[in-house]
Amino acid sequence: MKTQNLIQDLQLTITNWKQQQMTIAFVPTMGNLHAGHLELVKAAKKKADKVVVSIFVNPTQFSKDEDFENYPHTEQQDIEALITNNVDLLFLPLIKEIYHSQTKTIITVADISNLHCGQTRIGHFSGVATIVCKLLNIVHPDSIFFGEKDFQQLAVIRLMVRDLNISVNVESVAIIRESDGLAMSSRNSYLTIQQRLIAPKLYQTLCNARDKIMQQQSDFREIEEQQKQYLTTAGFKVDYFSICRVNDLLLANKNDKKLVILTAATLGKPRLIDNICITLES
Ligand code: PAF
Repeated sequence: MKTQNLIQDLQLTITNWKQQQMTIAFVPTMGNLHAGHLELVKAAKKKADKVVVSIFVNPTQFSKDEDFENYPHTEQQDIEALITNNVDLLFLPLIKEIYHSQTKTIITVADISNLHCGQTRIGHFSGVATIVCKLLNIVHPDSIFFGEKDFQQLAVIRLMVRDLNISVNVESVAIIRESDGLAMSSRNSYLTIQQRLIAPKLYQTLCNARDKIMQQQSDFREIEEQQKQYLTTAGFKVDYFSICRVNDLLLANKNDKKLVILTAATLGKPRLIDNICITLES
């Protein structure tokens, strides 16, 4: 695996591959890689001749009171995992390679960025959209891969790619879970032993809500309140628990058929997010 820190060097390699008619799949990450990231790499390998992974902890998607400074850096371990998974190129830029001090442009995908996580993580999705757009312009891949755990992020990126006519296929990979149902996340490493035992309840509430919907319970707001109560009693501080329409992530009602239940809650220090999709018969 090649590791490159400079845009110029990366682009020489990419140009060379493109001249040989090779296709390129790209997996952007912030490092601290777990099995969920490696599933993205595996899916990318199936899709293209060359796989590029970036590790860049993007400062603009963290607000002042968030964990940018303490975000886990496990570079050596990450590099070994990428080599084992036959990644062709790792892009590992410094902050100054990506953002110069005169940066004036920020990308904001309206409306959807203000929902759910966007209500408390002000500016987060603009930070994500901007870095993903920059990375797309740097790497010029044929396809880019995201995990479905960050469901709202995926929706924001799909809209940005559509609206800015970016020529790339956005591919998504299902959530990878621990054996007790907890969705894999870099932030799980912040959980204490005690919190780790409680954490799977987040997924359990999603399953409970899904089961109630499948059993024809049609008061979605009541289902949301019950599950929030359950999580609060278990020790979570619930940010949101919302039964939404897949297409725009607005609150769903009983006539909607394609649903996603989105939740975020803090358990001690870490903030966990998860989701589950449901398609009802028409
Ligand atoms: O999902 C992530 O790890 C990040 O938000 C991403 C897409 C790499 C942008 O920094």
